[in-house]
Amino acid sequence: MATHVHDSARPSAVVCDRTALEPGEAQMSRLLELTIKPFVPFVRHIWRRLPVALRQTRPARRIGTFFYDHYVRGTYRDQTHYTWFLRNIAQLRLLTEVVSAHPRGQPLRIASIGCSVGAELYSTLWLLRRYHPWLQVVARGIDTSANVIEVARKGVYRLRTPSPQGGTLELNGAKVLTTVPNALNDIMDMTPEGDFRIKDWIREGVSWTVADATDPGLAAIIGPQDVVIACNVLGPMDDAIAEACLRGLVKLIVPGGTLVLDGIDLDLKSRVTQSLGLKPMTRYLEEIHTADPTKGDWPWTRWSHEPIDYQRADWHYRYATVFGVASSDERRQENAIDRPDAVLAVDAPVLAVSMSNTDSSTPAGIAR
Ligand SMILES: C[S@@+](CC[C@H](N)C(=O)[O-])C[C@H]1O[C@@H](n2cnc3c(N)ncnc32)[C@H](O)[C@@H]1O
Repeated sequence: MATHVHDSARPSAVVCDRTALEPGEAQMSRLLELTIKPFVPFVRHIWRRLPVALRQTRPARRIGTFFYDHYVRGTYRDQTHYTWFLRNIAQLRLLTEVVSAHPRGQPLRIASIGCSVGAELYSTLWLLRRYHPWLQVVARGIDTSANVIEVARKGVYRLRTPSPQGGTLELNGAKVLTTVPNALNDIMDMTPEGDFRIKDWIREGVSWTVADATDPGLAAIIGPQDVVIACNVLGPMDDAIAEACLRGLVKLIVPGGTLVLDGIDLDLKSRVTQSLGLKPMTRYLEEIHTADPTKGDWPWTRWSHEPIDYQRADWHYRYATVFGVASSDERRQENAIDRPDAVLAVDAPVLAVSMSNTDSSTPAGIAR
């Protein structure tokens, strides 16, 4: 389903943040880094051949973190249009549960930021409308690329054509089809020309806008939102730009709303979400963390997901990808009582969404 395939990791730049170190320590750290650098390809070669169980031991994780922080984290920060349908079904399932509490009769406003050709937003609309037909979803995709926005607007996908030049997803690619093998039949129809067209009931109420997520004027363009999805768009940005952008995106979300945030540097995510008082939702944490097959190959790929480390004090913020924005009532209470951040409990009914269902008798691999 790739629209643009990332190259393999190419550790080159030395990017470790030494700002917290004393001057002597910083020099030692730099020296160590330069000494080890020639051995990085060798270590990577060995690492990839180690048994998974061994790689997950604490000493191995520490070594992995060292290599990630020093040789990988700052590399290869270019943006691509890489996307596919149902990229993280566990994350969508959590979002579906969260919005089930949305007040009836009020439109649910959703923005997909960095939407590429629209696969993420159409997937979200598909699941929300399948399970909550009573929801009035009003959705908007934004992207800086006019080409992908045009493809998203048409909602027609063709095999083996680069997405920015007319819209295609590789529908025979293994990634989506192995995650939720039958879902695409419910999302798209095949046209007489052999293209794939998003069904009308999913396209309804969606608009597509060329806009820049880093623009401080974004709120005036798209207005307040109940849900903002910012996946795989902030990671390639420089840290300072990503942080400012994230803070701006959170301002778009109304009290009680939801942020879906993935594909971003984990240190940055943890620090900023804590400082903004967001509430990490940790249901399905492990399924969500491992659902996207492109997030593997840690620590050698910048966008890879490190193994979850529950011993980290910040693990809720670091690994959660769905966050609640405090409601007006919660804000009032927080102002009245000085209490530590709570982890939002999601009490909505659980949808049964099979991650591995290949049974074609179950539409879309999903059962209610
Ligand atoms: C890797 S794709 C992610 C698509 C989708 N969100 C997903 O996760 O599958 C990133 C998209 O973000 C867009 N993008 C990059 N910088 C942006 C910005 N400042 N504002 C809006 N879109 C941006 C790119 O053009 C690209 O289409």
